Amino acid sequence: MQKQTRTQNILNWYKEFGREELPWRKTTDAYPIYLSEIMLQQTQVKTVLERFYFQFLEKFPTLESLAQASQDDVLKAWEGLGYYTRARNLHKTAQLVKTALPKTAKELEELPGIGKSTANAIACFAYNEANPILDANVKRILYRFYATKKANDKQLWELSHNFFDETQPYEFNQALMDIGSTICTPRNAQCENCPLQTQCLGKDSPQEYPTKIKKKPVPIKQRKIIVYNYKDKYALFKGEAKLLGGLWAFRQFETFEQKAIELGEISQTYSHFKLQAQVLLRKCNNNENMQWFTLEEIENLALSGADKKVLSLIHKKA
Ligand code: ADE
Repeated sequence: MQKQTRTQNILNWYKEFGREELPWRKTTDAYPIYLSEIMLQQTQVKTVLERFYFQFLEKFPTLESLAQASQDDVLKAWEGLGYYTRARNLHKTAQLVKTALPKTAKELEELPGIGKSTANAIACFAYNEANPILDANVKRILYRFYATKKANDKQLWELSHNFFDETQPYEFNQALMDIGSTICTPRNAQCENCPLQTQCLGKDSPQEYPTKIKKKPVPIKQRKIIVYNYKDKYALFKGEAKLLGGLWAFRQFETFEQKAIELGEISQTYSHFKLQAQVLLRKCNNNENMQWFTLEEIENLALSGADKKVLSLIHKKA
């Protein structure tokens, strides 16, 4: 009975306040739904809407067009969104499935970059499959609803299944996304507006759930970024590291003793460290075994946020 009431409250709330205008909620095509779920994994709705979702679909309107694109072009469309593994996996998935995504969460989960929660979300939003979701927003709602301070993923999935109601899975799951991002927010939760307030065990002190884990300070990496310059060209290298693999990059060293001109400093925050780098211009006399590009050509390459900053130093000073 309690569950029925709860579900009804959630569904009524969604009818009145749900963000039905979000573009991935106005389509039943699995590809844009899949794209939105991948973009939204680590990026806020506002950023995705303003700068990436429509632009990406304009460039790659179908899975086939994405499969046929070069990795460089896909990464260029992802430039600025960060967590580039997402873009590489999106591309790999398009190449694997070719024309259509599989129709069940179980099969979706086999694809690169699609974890259980994302698979459930895509299957629910594209095919109305009834499965719960467990992204960061839903986790926070569950912690608070059940007044739970600490839980592992297995326990959270159990809570999520327990909480879930399969009568209207699409609306139910979209509602939770909206409640998590507009009401049950990390700070200043608006419990007085929440459709779960009559049953939520954590509503008197939502900030206590889950227990906050003190974040370790992020380590700082000090580097020298060397901009090799030959006539009007600059050397770039194709990144292979996991973090920024596939992007074009200026060379980085821990130390650099050769003669070079100082262009300035940049810093960039990543998920697990902060980069602080001195940027140096190193003039070359010949085109030593490197790949060279004019500034104009560089505009068409996908660069990391840090290297974009390096590029603007070059524009300013070189
Ligand atoms: N975050 C992840 N998926 C979402 C969705 N479908 N709508 C809004 N925010 C989301």
